[in-house]
Amino acid sequence: MDSFEIRKKFLDFFSERGHTIVPSSSLIPDDPSVLLTTAGMQQFKKYFTGELDAMKDFGSQKIVSIQKCFRTSDIEEVGDKTHLTFFEMLGNFSFDDYFKKEAIKYAWELITEILNISTERITVSIFKGDKQTPHDGESYKIWHEIGLPENKIITGNRTDNFWGPTGDEGPCGPTTEIYIDNIEVWNLVFNEYYKEKSGKFAKVDNPGVDTGMGLERLAAILQGADDVFETDIFHPLTSKINDLTPGLDQRIIRILADHLRACIFLAGNEVLPSNKESGYILRRLLRRILAYKIKYDIHADIFPESIKVIKDKFGKIYPELKETEKILKILEDERLKFQETVGRGIKEIDKYSAITGKEAFYLYETFGLPFELIMELSPAKIIKNLKKEDFDKEFEKHQKISRAGAEKKFGGHGLTLDTGELKAGSEKEVKKAIQLHTATHLLHWALREVLGKEVQQMGSDINPERTRFDFSFDRKMTPEEIKKVEDLVNQKIKENLPVYSKEIPKEEAEKTGALHFFKQKYPDIVRVYFIGSEASGGIISSEFCAGPHVNYTSQIRGVKILKEESVGAGIRRIRAKIE
Ligand code: SER
Repeated sequence: MDSFEIRKKFLDFFSERGHTIVPSSSLIPDDPSVLLTTAGMQQFKKYFTGELDAMKDFGSQKIVSIQKCFRTSDIEEVGDKTHLTFFEMLGNFSFDDYFKKEAIKYAWELITEILNISTERITVSIFKGDKQTPHDGESYKIWHEIGLPENKIITGNRTDNFWGPTGDEGPCGPTTEIYIDNIEVWNLVFNEYYKEKSGKFAKVDNPGVDTGMGLERLAAILQGADDVFETDIFHPLTSKINDLTPGLDQRIIRILADHLRACIFLAGNEVLPSNKESGYILRRLLRRILAYKIKYDIHADIFPESIKVIKDKFGKIYPELKETEKILKILEDERLKFQETVGRGIKEIDKYSAITGKEAFYLYETFGLPFELIMELSPAKIIKNLKKEDFDKEFEKHQKISRAGAEKKFGGHGLTLDTGELKAGSEKEVKKAIQLHTATHLLHWALREVLGKEVQQMGSDINPERTRFDFSFDRKMTPEEIKKVEDLVNQKIKENLPVYSKEIPKEEAEKTGALHFFKQKYPDIVRVYFIGSEASGGIISSEFCAGPHVNYTSQIRGVKILKEESVGAGIRRIRAKIE
């Protein structure tokens, strides 16, 4: 049974039982609690909480989908037979419709009757309960009634048999997992709780079902394949890699196949390589591919070749993959940018007889080699004493030095300001640069309002004359969009919103969704600048930032956008001045 047939059988089964088929949402989620879509339920979160009405939007309270997912938690595991970063998740969902009994029966019927897996191969697990939420005896009873003997129903703890919430609050509940030949394939989540911010689990009166089954693992089982890379899903790509570079180790082929497929899907879903958030995830995967390309002498053009294979295999289901030129450009731009530097970094490693945190940080800073890649590319004997915490310490030390530099220049010399981002030399200039600094935060906010939340800051440079702001966006802005951004900024200046900062523990600050550079190391206590307050109609902007800023937006007077231009693939630059 090939993967197309499996997808079809799954969708047909649930659609025949009253489920509406909903297409996969993008890998970029509409949910700030995660960087990338990690589960099928993400696009339906608001139906579980009751904020949205599924009957109104889908004509049914029962949904079936096949969702593109990406999980960073397994990156280090990739290379074995089962772990992947990108995968497809088959799922059925009920929003206050059916619950445990039907969900378990559907799963059983699909697996044993439609997919013809013999019952002896099946084991399940259920939640054993703890101080926070009780044992899921109901699921136990249902499995027992279906005919599973006691020794085939095992109990698991919270880590294994309780799902969610994604983020610090939201729907969640006990799970029952289905194993075939001891491989976990299907996770049935019973959302009967809402975890509140306080940590309390409140029972909900609209319980729902959220299930997820990894397509690749299921295909491996149904195709009698020894691992997911031998299924029809991966075979065209692994054999292409093997043809291009015969003799590569299996583990390297698997990592390349997983990462190449993931990068192509990420780029197809408009993720651009950058130093933060999902952009950094893409960059990290790409750098690993590029490092392998050098280390294992892979001379072929693996990007265009893989894009073609992936398009042929998945283009019918995911039309974004047909934009092969766009995807290729994103990957190739990154290759041109990093191949040489990463290559020099790899050569640099050879010069060391020992690498500790200090050298590793130097390699990271100078050649862009992420810590994990240094660990992987270096001979074991020279990294004996390399510890992640030492690397992190170096990172922090470096941050402190640059922050201290900024403070000294500002505080110490009175009238000069040089934070790296802001530069000014006289009192008058300092005042203007500060106005432009706050204007830059407003501009960042307005761009995300007008162009979408995928806009991310890529850099900024402020002098008394103008602010120059770089951001990720893949096309030219229209004159209307530019005008809209400018108008929004000026409107907020007129509204005279308060601008203020707070020092808060980093973790708390991250939870508020304050904008910051993902993966940049921040100290444990960070300063966050806010624009707007509850009293003024809500906070519109919050960013990790050392300042300085004006106290009220009206102190900026007005802002004019001078120019919008491209500064490389997927990066736009805006210049603006105070009027
Ligand atoms: N949300 C659950 C999971 O991701 C079931 O879909 O495993």
